[in-house]
Amino acid sequence: MENSGKYKRILVTSALTYANGDTHLGHIAGSILPADMYVRYCRLADYDIIYVCGSDEYGTAIEMSAIKEGISPKEIVDKYHFANKKAYEQLGMSFDIYSRTSTETHKKTAQDFFTNLYDKDLLYQKTEKQLYSEKEKRFLADRFVIGTCPVCGFEEARGDECENCGSALSPLELKNPRSTITGDTPVVKESTHFYFPLSKFQPKLEEWINSKKDWKPNVVNYCKGWFKTGLQDRAITRDLDWGVPLPIEGFDGKVIYVWFEAPMGYISITKELFAAKGNEDKYKDYWCSNDTKLVHFLGKDNIIFHAIFFPAMIMAHGDLVLAENVPANEFMNLEGTKQSKSKGHAIYVKDVVDKYNPDSLRYAIASNMPENKDTDFYWKDLQAKNNNELGAILGNFVNRTFVFAGKYFDGAVPEAGAYAEVDNNIINSIKSYTSSIASYYENYKFKDALSETMNLVRDANKYFNDTEPWKVVKEDTARCGTIINVCLQLCNTFAVLFNPVLPFTSEKLLRMLNMPGENLSWANAEKLLLPAGHKLNTPEILFRKIEDSEIEQ
Ligand code: MF3
Ligand code: ZN
Repeated sequence: MENSGKYKRILVTSALTYANGDTHLGHIAGSILPADMYVRYCRLADYDIIYVCGSDEYGTAIEMSAIKEGISPKEIVDKYHFANKKAYEQLGMSFDIYSRTSTETHKKTAQDFFTNLYDKDLLYQKTEKQLYSEKEKRFLADRFVIGTCPVCGFEEARGDECENCGSALSPLELKNPRSTITGDTPVVKESTHFYFPLSKFQPKLEEWINSKKDWKPNVVNYCKGWFKTGLQDRAITRDLDWGVPLPIEGFDGKVIYVWFEAPMGYISITKELFAAKGNEDKYKDYWCSNDTKLVHFLGKDNIIFHAIFFPAMIMAHGDLVLAENVPANEFMNLEGTKQSKSKGHAIYVKDVVDKYNPDSLRYAIASNMPENKDTDFYWKDLQAKNNNELGAILGNFVNRTFVFAGKYFDGAVPEAGAYAEVDNNIINSIKSYTSSIASYYENYKFKDALSETMNLVRDANKYFNDTEPWKVVKEDTARCGTIINVCLQLCNTFAVLFNPVLPFTSEKLLRMLNMPGENLSWANAEKLLLPAGHKLNTPEILFRKIEDSEIEQ
């Protein structure tokens, strides 16, 4: 098993999806697809890697949706957990496990973590004024209250965070607070909560983040902004029923704050992964070792929790690994406005995954990934990318090659004679492309990885055009055989190099080439593996054209 630099193994996470609605293309672009591409690349490169993800099932986001849909929180999470799990599968997301936070394992993991900090006397209690709705007879925690953001003036800021400027908030900081459910103006009542001393960790966090030379500038800049304002201690308990109960006696009716407990889902889900393989303790190889490269993929609204809050918790705990990188993405908006589940402005995976080739969706998103700034998804763009790039460039090359092999060489790989310069050039360029694409993946530059991969196909098409096999075949079948041999080797290379972004197409290509899946590895991308005489299978259409009429609706 190779390793990645100084690390022995890699642990990749994507932000756990709230199980209170259907997953949409914003989630895919922000945290799921980049992680899947990275993981698929790493597996091909033969790294020891696991990819864990799942549903985030507690917190006021869930309770809120339950109230709106008129069912219980448990019914909500059951409904959306399985729906989202299926949607991700249909889009080819290759988690090693997709579990959830409402499990016993998670409850115990979160409670043990809490107890660990409590026993170390790191937490403190404070009786504080809280917003309380007389009408609803409940404390208005987090999303149960909205008001004006004290930082940016956004009028619909939630009690836990401002979606507009990304600031972490507490309900009492909101100006003009009101109940999200009833619009009722809350009163102030006292309640006792546990606090995590985040402010104490600021120097350590700053030192840690300053030592990270390869983090994305957008992530580092967000963090520097928060350091400048000064980190505040955070209440880590809530007066709610739905959540992980406190592991300490005398605090009935209180649960652990969702943002304290949900990131531990990464740990509990890793435990489940290995428990299913008969050795739960193996999770320690990944979590309790400095040889592990922990990488969190997420959207920018989650940066504060993964680059500040969770690392501080890990520092407090002491026995767990800190993130090596947090390659957060910005947002992918929809035709000009932010995709939002709560506002119903989004393209839901379940609505598109049966209508379009999942690889075309993956490609359109990946080539427009919001790596450094927000981007927009346009339906026209999906059509253009599918028809003009996937179909006209990749599909066309593969199709031309297979047509020639079928028509002139009996559907088998023709013999390669002596290579001409033009053959050597393309064969040599496979090597350089394979290594430059790898380095883009290693550095979380997915858009570049993809365009570089596509450039090799452009070169392949140019090779086909320049060598003119349709003319050559009439004069010199052997020379034509050499050309088609090279083209088929290129198809095999594409099956590897496109695997991270187009996994279904990669599989199809291998099937057409009659190549066993075990051959799929990054090291094989640059090898000419197809022997002369090797029988090919019937070609399939790789990308169906998307018509105007399908996009107009
Ligand atoms: N459910 C959160 C969101 O969608 C992300 C949770 S990430 C975790 O914004 F680390 F807390 F699990
Ligand atoms: Zn704000």
